[in-house]
Amino acid sequence: MDTVKQLKWRYATKKFDAQKKLSKEKLEVLKQAFNLTATSYGLQTIKMVVLENKAVREPLVEHAFNQKQVLDASHLLIICIQNNILDEDVVKYYDNIKGIRNTAETILKPYREGLIQMMEKMSVDERQRWSTNQAYIALGNLMTVCAMESIDSCPMEGFVPAKFDDILKLTDKGLKSVLLLPVGYRAEDDMFSEFKKVRKPIEEAVVEI
Ligand SMILES: Cc1cc2nc3c(=O)[nH]c(=O)nc-3n(C[C@H](O)[C@H](O)[C@H](O)COP(=O)(O)O)c2cc1C
Repeated sequence: MDTVKQLKWRYATKKFDAQKKLSKEKLEVLKQAFNLTATSYGLQTIKMVVLENKAVREPLVEHAFNQKQVLDASHLLIICIQNNILDEDVVKYYDNIKGIRNTAETILKPYREGLIQMMEKMSVDERQRWSTNQAYIALGNLMTVCAMESIDSCPMEGFVPAKFDDILKLTDKGLKSVLLLPVGYRAEDDMFSEFKKVRKPIEEAVVEI
C-alpha cells in the first residue's frame, strides 16, 4: 500500500453516493480505529456515535448548515466528549488496567490518585476542552484509516452541537457532540474529487533543524 498515494486520494468529500453502503467489516474497522486512538493518560473520555438511520439524520441537516453529507453518507460518525470527568471514571480506568494487565494495586495507586488530583484542579470547562483535544486526535486517526481503507469521509466542524445533542438526546447520555465524520463513498459527480490538492510547498510546511 502506497501511503502517500492514499493520503492524496482522500479529500473532504462534499457529495456522497447515497446508494452506497459501507460493509459491516469496514464499519468494524472504523469502530476499532476509534477505540484504538491514543488518548491522554489512556482515559478515553470520548465516545463515537454511529448513526445510519436516515430518518433520524434528516432533521440534522439544517443544523449542519445544510451540508448534505450528513444525510447522504453511508453512516454519520459523531465524535463526542463526556460532559464531565468524574473520579469514578479514573477509578474505572485503573480497575480496567488491573483486570487486563493484572498490575499490582501498589503500583497503580499513586498514578490513580495523581490523575484524580489533576482532574480535580480543572474546571468542568477545562475538562471538556481537554477531552475535545482527544476528539480531534480521533478525527485525524479515523480520516487516515478511512483513506487506507478507500473509504471516503468529510471532517466537519460546521454544525450546531447543541442542536445535535438535543435531537439525538446526547445530553441524556452525558455526552456533547464536537465533530462529525460522514463516511461512505464519493458520488461520481462530486467535482471536488477532481480538484488538485492545495498545500504549501513541503519545504515551507516542514521545518528541518
Ligand atoms: C476540523 C475540520 C473541520 C472541517 N469542517 C468542514 C465542514 O464543516 N464542512 C466541509 O465541507 N469541510 C470541512 N472541513 C474540510 C476542510 O475544508 C478540508 O479538509 C481542507 O480544505 C483541505 O482539503 P482536503 O481535505 O480535501 O485535502 C473541515 C476540516 C477539518 C480538519
